[in-house]
Amino acid sequence: METKLVVKDQLDEAVAALKAGELVAFPTETVYGLGADGLNPNAVQKIFQAKGRPQDNPLILHIEGVDGLAALTDGQVPVTAQRLAEAFWPGPLTVVVKAREHIPAAVRAGLDTVAVRAPDHSVAQALIRQLGRPIAAPSANMSGRPSPTTADAVWEDLQGRVGFIVDGGPTRVGLESTVVDCTQEPVVLLRPGGLSLEMVASVVGEVREPSGEGPARAPGMKYRHYAPKAPVIFVDGIGPDRAGAVLDRLRRRFANGRPESRHLAVIAPDGFPEVEESLGPDDLSAANRLFSAIRHLDHGNPDAIVIFWESEKGLGLAVKNRILKASSERVQDG
Ligand code: TXA
Ligand code: MG
Repeated sequence: METKLVVKDQLDEAVAALKAGELVAFPTETVYGLGADGLNPNAVQKIFQAKGRPQDNPLILHIEGVDGLAALTDGQVPVTAQRLAEAFWPGPLTVVVKAREHIPAAVRAGLDTVAVRAPDHSVAQALIRQLGRPIAAPSANMSGRPSPTTADAVWEDLQGRVGFIVDGGPTRVGLESTVVDCTQEPVVLLRPGGLSLEMVASVVGEVREPSGEGPARAPGMKYRHYAPKAPVIFVDGIGPDRAGAVLDRLRRRFANGRPESRHLAVIAPDGFPEVEESLGPDDLSAANRLFSAIRHLDHGNPDAIVIFWESEKGLGLAVKNRILKASSERVQDG
């Protein structure tokens, strides 16, 4: 299949492709999505094939705004979902509600619930409006790879597997939406993301975090995720003052028995030593830069990518979650 890159004000061909049941990759404010007509089972099935995505991992339906939620919900829209959507849509928040029967089983991965969000991006909104139906879309990466925050990153993963990639420039948030299960009271945080837990709690009060015994996380969270080719080492909770010693130790270990010096590519916030890709000054900049930093450093074929991160505040919780999922090793004690 030939992949065509299109600019964001020439959407006619992309809309025609969606109407014909084909796939279109497009920007949202979080990450790029791989979209299909969300009410066409054959179109939705193509998403799983193109990404190599496990069939038991359900998709998010993207709609224009809160007015569209009731049509996808079986019974009443839960008060929590209604309040959250009114407060934060369009934006990086996904609510899980009981699904209306007409939503294809492939979208829900056979569950009786459906995940819905209204993206805050003019291209995504224009595609939904012109298709006139919800767009089902996961992140537009090959399954298991870091989510794409630029059209180039989509191209790297999906060239030849999707007909159109709409280039809307780099995404604003940089990691995926926060997923909240509103079928239970109190609501459950299924995936931390681009809307902070503090913001969710400010509207609904109590938010439960799934524990080992509690309700299952979003099905997708059980898979290995966000992984580049190089192994990722997460250095958790160690500040700039002790970072040099940790890197020396890791380097000695990687050099084990081999004379060549090892290339450890470092991703960390401002102020850390030996940083090749900075996460910037705070949680917002870290969320924005993490995935692109991982992809960029991976192109240099390092022996390992070492990521330093400490905070769980604001978007820090989601940043930490994504680093944990991408890493094969976690170092906690300097
Ligand atoms: O920001 C985002 O959420 C991006 C953009 C494109 O909108 N999309 C995205 O989709 O990240 P994806 O497929 O990569 O992640 C969706 C997550 C998965 O962890 C999935 O298991 C969960 O949402 N999910 C979807 N439907 C669900 C449901 N009915 N119940 C529980 N979790 C669900
Ligand atoms: Mg994804």
